[in-house]
Amino acid sequence: MKAHVENAKKWEEISKGMKIVPKKRIIERNDKGERESTEDDLSGFGESLIEKSTVTWKDIGGLYEVKALIMETIVIAGLNKPESVKPDKGILLFGPPGTGKTLLAAAAAGSLKATFFNVKISNILSKYFGESSKLITALYESARSHAPSIVFIDEFDSITLSRDGDQGEASRKVLSTLLAELDGFQDKKSDRLVLTLAATNTPKDLDQAVLSRFPKRIYTPLPDKKSCQEIIKIQLKDLDISSLDFGKIGEMCVANRYSGRDIQNVCKDAIHSMLHRSNPDIFADIDKIAELSFDELKKRTLKVSTITMDDLTGAIARVKTPVTAAKLAEYDDWNKKYGAG
Ligand SMILES: Nc1ncnc2c1ncn2[C@@H]1O[C@H](COP(=O)(O)OP(=O)(O)OP(=O)(O)O)[C@@H](O)[C@H]1O
Ligand SMILES: [Mg+2]
Repeated sequence: MKAHVENAKKWEEISKGMKIVPKKRIIERNDKGERESTEDDLSGFGESLIEKSTVTWKDIGGLYEVKALIMETIVIAGLNKPESVKPDKGILLFGPPGTGKTLLAAAAAGSLKATFFNVKISNILSKYFGESSKLITALYESARSHAPSIVFIDEFDSITLSRDGDQGEASRKVLSTLLAELDGFQDKKSDRLVLTLAATNTPKDLDQAVLSRFPKRIYTPLPDKKSCQEIIKIQLKDLDISSLDFGKIGEMCVANRYSGRDIQNVCKDAIHSMLHRSNPDIFADIDKIAELSFDELKKRTLKVSTITMDDLTGAIARVKTPVTAAKLAEYDDWNKKYGAG
């Protein structure tokens, strides 16, 4: 009974992380009294990972080569072709945090109107099921039945062959099932697009077995000057940015080693400054205004004005990137050794 309660608790925790709304579940136990996953759990699992993506290629600044490569893979998969022309089933994206890996996967799905499966390895590797590899099978079954599908697997470095113990065992099984899916042995209808995009911040932790299944290993670097400018324009797209010196801002972003996420934070901060300047009446009296009901708030409108250079440079002074020069050198190094597009 105690085990039952603990398992229920674990399920609740896991399902929160996975954004699962658990269906009616059948609890089964093996002869050791351990809980086993049931058909009911598994069939819901793949579906629970589906997310709606409205992101398109236009929402991504820079990353031209990566975008082109993913587009090419999708186009080749979609067109009629001789049997020996086989599009890639998986692409590995590696690079510093916040450089657009998740965004790329979402854009691939959004532009294609494909089903987007957003998977974190830590959720799959939960010891609770003890049979995580079945989750991979369930995931790809759902992906095939909802094709065209983009399967995005984040934290890809956490499945590895070399880890010891129980977690290592689960990890190895997950990996071999995943590699079998990528090899396509179980893919009976190969004309249905199921593209796996795997992402990692620590490519050096990947095993050779994994690397060999991903001949396309693509670096998502920090944005260069032009890409920084594009990302700022995307982030501030419906505001007046006519007074900004984009040349200068682009240089500052590069000098600060900003990722797309850092630039997003800079833009949020700059917008915040602009809103304070444009709405002194609201922010001076915020205690009072915060007491209004939501319906009352809805009757008022925030004023907006031009985003100034001071808004941007003030924000840049406040936003610090977590990416160090030494880390960047490591990515470059790995890219030279193993990167391949
Ligand atoms: N190239 C880009 N163009 C436009 N926006 C970007 C770009 N890169 C990052 N961003 C912004 O930063 C946010 C975070 O990017 P994303 O989540 O894709 O990074 P990531 O590479 O997946 O990071 P992590 O490795 O931490 O998971 C995005 O939601 C987007 O707002
Ligand atoms: Mg991500």
